[in-house]
This record gives sequence, structure tokens and C-alpha cells, in this order.
Amino acid sequence: MTKKIDPQSARTFRRLWQFVLPYKRVGVVAMIGMAGTALVEGGLVYLLEPMTDEALVAQNLETARWIPLAFIGIFVLRGIFGIATEYSLGWIGRNVISALRRMVFCKFLTLPTRFFEERTAGPLLSRITYNVEMIAESVTTVVTVAIRDILTVIAAITVMYLQSPTLLLFVAIVIPVVALIVRGLGRAFRRYSGRIQDSVGEVMQVTEEIVRGNRVVKIFGGYEYESERLDEVDRRNKQQNLKLIRVRSVGVAMTQIIFGIGVAGVVYMAGRESLGGNLTPGQFISFFSAMMLTLQPVRRITNVNAVIQRGVAAGASLFEVIDEADETDTGSTVLQAVRGRVEYRDVSFAYKANNTEVLANISVTVEPGASLAIVGHSGSGKSTMVSLLPRFYDVNGGLILLDGTPIRELTLKNLRDNISLVSQDVVLFNDTIANNLSYGQLRRHSRQEIMAAAEAAHVLEFANDMPDGLETLVGDRGVLLSGGQRQRIAIGRALLKNAPVLILDEATSSLDTQSERRIQEALHELMKNRTTLVIAHRLSTVEKADCIIVLEAGRIVESGSHQQLLSRDGQYAALYRLQFTDE
Ligand SMILES: Nc1ncnc2c1ncn2[C@@H]1O[C@H](COP(=O)(O)OP(=O)(O)OP(=O)(O)O)[C@@H](O)[C@H]1O
Ligand SMILES: [Mg+2]
Repeated sequence: MTKKIDPQSARTFRRLWQFVLPYKRVGVVAMIGMAGTALVEGGLVYLLEPMTDEALVAQNLETARWIPLAFIGIFVLRGIFGIATEYSLGWIGRNVISALRRMVFCKFLTLPTRFFEERTAGPLLSRITYNVEMIAESVTTVVTVAIRDILTVIAAITVMYLQSPTLLLFVAIVIPVVALIVRGLGRAFRRYSGRIQDSVGEVMQVTEEIVRGNRVVKIFGGYEYESERLDEVDRRNKQQNLKLIRVRSVGVAMTQIIFGIGVAGVVYMAGRESLGGNLTPGQFISFFSAMMLTLQPVRRITNVNAVIQRGVAAGASLFEVIDEADETDTGSTVLQAVRGRVEYRDVSFAYKANNTEVLANISVTVEPGASLAIVGHSGSGKSTMVSLLPRFYDVNGGLILLDGTPIRELTLKNLRDNISLVSQDVVLFNDTIANNLSYGQLRRHSRQEIMAAAEAAHVLEFANDMPDGLETLVGDRGVLLSGGQRQRIAIGRALLKNAPVLILDEATSSLDTQSERRIQEALHELMKNRTTLVIAHRLSTVEKADCIIVLEAGRIVESGSHQQLLSRDGQYAALYRLQFTDE
């Protein structure tokens, strides 16, 4: 009847089952509910016999009185069992969804940066929404089929047997033939519905692109191109759907005809039995109703494999995420008072194994409280170099040390607690300005401290002009603010963190010269007594650094102070002259 399930899928299903097991007790309620439902359904069709034969045909007063009462009782019971089943299964389902969702979410929090860069966001996000729902649906359906449907079929067959064993024998021969034909038709539908899902995906893809890229579409006149793309995928989707409708309507009609022939056979046999005096009208009605009662459950039982497969597929892609290795956090050293000596010792790095190295033989030391400026052309590896320090990536060769301890030996928390970062692309959360300033562990700061940071980073300057001040919502990823405003919030956040090591990656690149100059003061204040790695295109920011290194294709080609480098008259001097004539 069902295809064999391969061991891999069986393992996935068993693992999913582990999420259901904690709710065993509620499961018992569900089972009682389902068994009760099956029993009551069977009782209902069984009652049709005395109702017809005795109350209606023989007009037995006694029976005519208790039958309606029995019906009321049965429907009340059915209601109660129904509620017990629905509610307990629903309860288990929602709990499973919740547990899986939390698990994936927590996983996302601890996965390495690399994981997210290697994948597109859409499919990752759908795991936490679509897949978990799919799994719960699959599991509850399978349970329902395994208990309620199978018991219902057993109850119905029992009734059929009690009413007429001969007819049951006949049905047992006819039904499998009907079932085989119907199943063949069902297969044909499924082939189509798979393809339709693909074309729905295409429609979504095209639409999402124009929603996100609406500015590009507008300015570059992409209307026609986009409309044509939509026409294309929409046409495909429509055609496939129409084909499905065609196949399905024909399929339904054919199923009904085949089914009708089967029923005709049963009716014919019933007629013969009745003539022979072996079947009363009541027995026939009861038998026939019991037979109809099996239809839905049998259909679900034959389809259960597809449901299992769907759940297993959804589960497998979920477990794929859950089984990913976390960031390696094997270090155990916890530095108490970090002074902030940062040393890169012969560091090399490539984003992917076997790829060309983005950094090679980087050796540089920054003394506590000193500042290191990193300059170089776009793509020379500046951002990469500083992202190794908080271990967003691990070095491929060499060592990075904080206060003389290799950073790999520190706990990730200890390492990151001691580093503040203003990155090239500022990320804000859909919350208020104040909450973005005091993000995460910075929540514990007092209102005064937040105000002070907002003041120093010149956040107040624009926040005060907004109707809600620091309580203004910044929108999705901060879209309601300008680039410079976002950057100032990021600087404020770093000020508030007050960590001994500070990384500034183009921290002021979105600011105009005047704002930059003012923030520069705040930054200089911030850099005092703090080890700072600063990346800047504008060399005015760099000049004051204690040491400057020039990167080219991942290698340090020059290093020294501003004066030293100028007098060397190499790359730095060239860059500097270029800047100077520019401004
Ligand atoms: N996440 C990543 N995965 C793979 N390669 C990357 C990744 N980020 C950067 N690269 C590559 O590494 C090289 C160095 O990039 P990096 O961002 O460090 O340059 P940069 O010096 O900061 O440049 P810019 O001044 O433009 O910010 C580039 O060739 C880039 O293509
Ligand atoms: Mg960069």
C-alpha cells in the first residue's frame, strides 16, 4: 500500500517524534478522544438498523422512543470526543512548533558568521516559519490516521460484519479494485501539483525583487522588463493550474463513475440477499452507511505516506540547520582587566579553504591605549583584518593575541565583551533610537549614561528634532534614518560599551566633513586610553594614529607614523597627496 520508507527518513521521523514524546499525557487524552470518536461513529451507523427495522418498519413504539434519545447521546459523545481530540492534538502541535522554532532561533544566534554568508536568507527564514508548521501538521495527521482512522475503519468493518457477512465478503473483493484505480489517478494529480509549487516560487521571486528593488526599477525604467518577466511566470503558473483543474475534474468524475459501479454491485448483491430473506432494510442501510464511513479514513490512510514524506523533508532541512556546528568556543581563559594589547602574529586568512588568501603574513602590534590605522585600496583586506579580532572568522595561519593570550584560548564572550565595534555597514534593529543605543548587554545602562552617549555621538542633535526624541522608532533596519544618523547611533553604541579595544571600520564615512569633524572629537575622546583599530578612507582621520599600516592585496606594504610614511614617499604619501589635491 505505501512505499517503503528509507532508513534516513525513518531516523528523521524518529527524531521528530522525540519532540512529541514530552506531551505523552496529553497524547493519552488525544488517544482516548480518537478511540472514542471511532467507537461512536461505529455505534451511530449500527443504530440505523433498529431505527429502520423496528421503529420505522415494524413501528415498535418502545424503540421509536429510545432511538432518538440514543442519537442525542451519541452526538453529545461525539462532540466531547471531538473536542478532546482536536484540542489535545492542537495543543501538542503548537507546543512542538514552539519548541522547534525556539531551537532553530537559538541555533541562528550561535552559528558562525560564515554560515549566513554561504546561504540566502529566504530559505533560512522559511525554516522557522513554514517548515515547523509543516512538521507539526504532518505529525498530527500521522497520529490521527494511525489511531482514529484505523479504529474507525475497524469499527465500520465490524458493523458491516454484524449486519451482513456475505455483503462484506463481496465488498472486500470490489473495494481493492476501486482503490487501485483511484490511486492511479491520484498519482497523476500529484505530479502536477509539484510543478505548480515551482512556478508559484517564481512568481514570488519576481515580485520580491521589484518590491525590494523598486528604486532601481523606477530610475532605470525596468517596468517593461519586469512586466515581461511576470507575464512569463504568471502564464506558466496559470497553464499549469488549468491543466491541474482539467485533470482533477476528469479524475473526480471518473472516480465517481468507478465508485458508482462498485456501489451498483453492492446494491445488486443486497437485492439478491434481501430476496433470499437474508437482509432487512435496516441491515442494508446500516451496512451501506458503515461502508461510506470508511471512505474518508481509507483515503487518508492510503495518503499517509505522502504526509510522512512531507514532514520528513521539512524535518530534514530543519535538522540540517540544527546540526550545523556552532561557533567554536572552546577557549576557557577569562581575562579580568584587559589592558588592550593587540598583536597580529604572522596572520593569514582566506574566506574559503583553497581560495586565494585575503590576508597574508600580517604582523603588527598595538600597545594598550595606542591606535593603529589601516589604509589601503578598496578590497585590500582592511575589514577582513579587523573582523578576525572578534573572531567573526578564525585565522587560517598565525595567531592573534589579546594581552599576550591567543584569542582562541579566550571564551568568545570574554573576548567580545572587551571589543567595541562600529562597522562599515551599520545594523540597526526595528526599535527606538534609545534601545538601539543600549542594545543587548548595554541594556543595563542608566538613562543618564545613554543620554551622555547620545550627546557625545551627536545623536541628540537630530533626535531632538524628532517628535518622539530618543523614543523614535528607526524602522526596519533603520530605514527611517539617514546613513549618517545611523552611523552616529552606532558610534553612540560603541561609546556606551566602553570596551578596552575599539574597532572603527569607516565609522564616519557617511558623514559630511563638518559633522565628521565634530564627531571626530567624540571619537578622539573615545580613543583615549583605548586600543583602537581604525579604518578610514579619509586620511585626516588617520593622521593622528600612533601607527599606520598600508595594506595591498592582503599584505602590509608600509608601516610607520604619518610623518615617517610621508618622508618615505611611498604608497601612503601617494595616497595622501591624492587626497590633498581632492579636497
Ligand atoms: N564574506 C566574504 N566572503 C568571501 N570573500 C569576501 C568576504 N568579504 C570580503 N571578501 C573578499 O575579501 C577581500 C577583502 O575584502 P575587505 O572587505 O576586507 O576589503 P576592504 O579593504 O575592507 O575594502 P573596502 O575599503 O572596500 O571596505 C575582497 O577581495 C572581497 O572580495
Ligand atoms: Mg571594508
